[in-house]
Amino acid sequence: MQVPLLDLRLQNQPLKDRILAGIEAVVESQAFILGPVVERLEKAVAQYCGAPHAFGVSSGTDAELVLLMALGIGPGDKVITTPYTFFATAGCISRVGARPVFVDIDPATYNISVPALEAALQREAGVKAIIPVHLFGCCADMEPIVALGRRYGIPVLEDAAQALGAEHPLGGAGAISEAGWFSFYPTKNLGAFGDAGMVVCRDPALAARIKALRNHGMEPRYFHQWIGGNFRIDAIQASVLEIKLLCLDDWSAGRRARAAFYRAEFARLGLDRQLVLPVEPWSNSGRTNHHIYNQFVVRTPHRDALRAHLQAAGIGSEIYYPLPLHLQECFKDLGYREGDFPESERAAKESLALPIFPELTEAQQHHVTSQIAVFFSSR
Ligand SMILES: Cc1ncc(COP(=O)(O)O)c(C=O)c1O
Repeated sequence: MQVPLLDLRLQNQPLKDRILAGIEAVVESQAFILGPVVERLEKAVAQYCGAPHAFGVSSGTDAELVLLMALGIGPGDKVITTPYTFFATAGCISRVGARPVFVDIDPATYNISVPALEAALQREAGVKAIIPVHLFGCCADMEPIVALGRRYGIPVLEDAAQALGAEHPLGGAGAISEAGWFSFYPTKNLGAFGDAGMVVCRDPALAARIKALRNHGMEPRYFHQWIGGNFRIDAIQASVLEIKLLCLDDWSAGRRARAAFYRAEFARLGLDRQLVLPVEPWSNSGRTNHHIYNQFVVRTPHRDALRAHLQAAGIGSEIYYPLPLHLQECFKDLGYREGDFPESERAAKESLALPIFPELTEAQQHHVTSQIAVFFSSR
């Protein structure tokens, strides 16, 4: 039996006719960039996550970039985030000329450690933003993070690239603090048919700047108040996303059901003593989507051998992320060393994402859990 890490065909096939009709409507309209379909999607996403303003952009990366530009963050400024995230989170900080200041993660959630954040805020001068990442679809500990942001007068910007639809007691991922963003990269829980993203925020003045900067800072046409860029979203991507957004609650429920199945099977097989399973820190909040399982990540010191075993058994898996950002070649000049962020480094060595998607069958999940049992029985 083959169990891919993700099979997008199963998600897209049932929607094919509706999606093609949406694309055809865009072709008929000849409004390929921004326009009414994009505006509809922006309204729908704003409502979905609970943010007053939303702007469709060319990718999750560009969403962060345009937001940092709109906040005027640049040379001489510092921005705090974690080194255990996708490259773009820190890459954008450097691209606007600011300096990423890394702090370690909480090993249980893989999200920013609040004590480490507080220590960094006490130590560092010139911090202009805090970027918690809602990694794998689980919200960071936003209550103390937002409180720290207020105490120090620093905006909190949520990297919710992997977390559209995740719920925290304070609100929907991306829309809890001043601003945030989502990625619609095809493999995300809401995936376009190409690159796309969305930036959301609360302040109307910030919203106006983001809107202009996404289109060369142009307002009105051919008059440029600011130097922006081309961060526009295509109408074809927006039309695909508009249709898929209607399915997102069901897909999140499907992911959560599969996570629950893994959890029950791992417990039944005694594998919860061998593997560290994902936690759901907000499960007492009365909300549903505490964790939307964009990824289902387990950890074990035997990660590489387990991955090889699963591969031989036809089971896909992935390592998010094998090298923390503070140890990446391009960030050498920041002066970090191995050992600076032990929890991020340990997570990079031990974590493994298992197949999870709404169409994953029980038989496939049994294959995954039984092969993991086989692997540990020989240790
Ligand atoms: C945590 C995180 N931040 C930012 C991004 C960037 O999004 P995109 O690939 O749409 O540019 C991603 C997507 O891979 C991500 O996972």
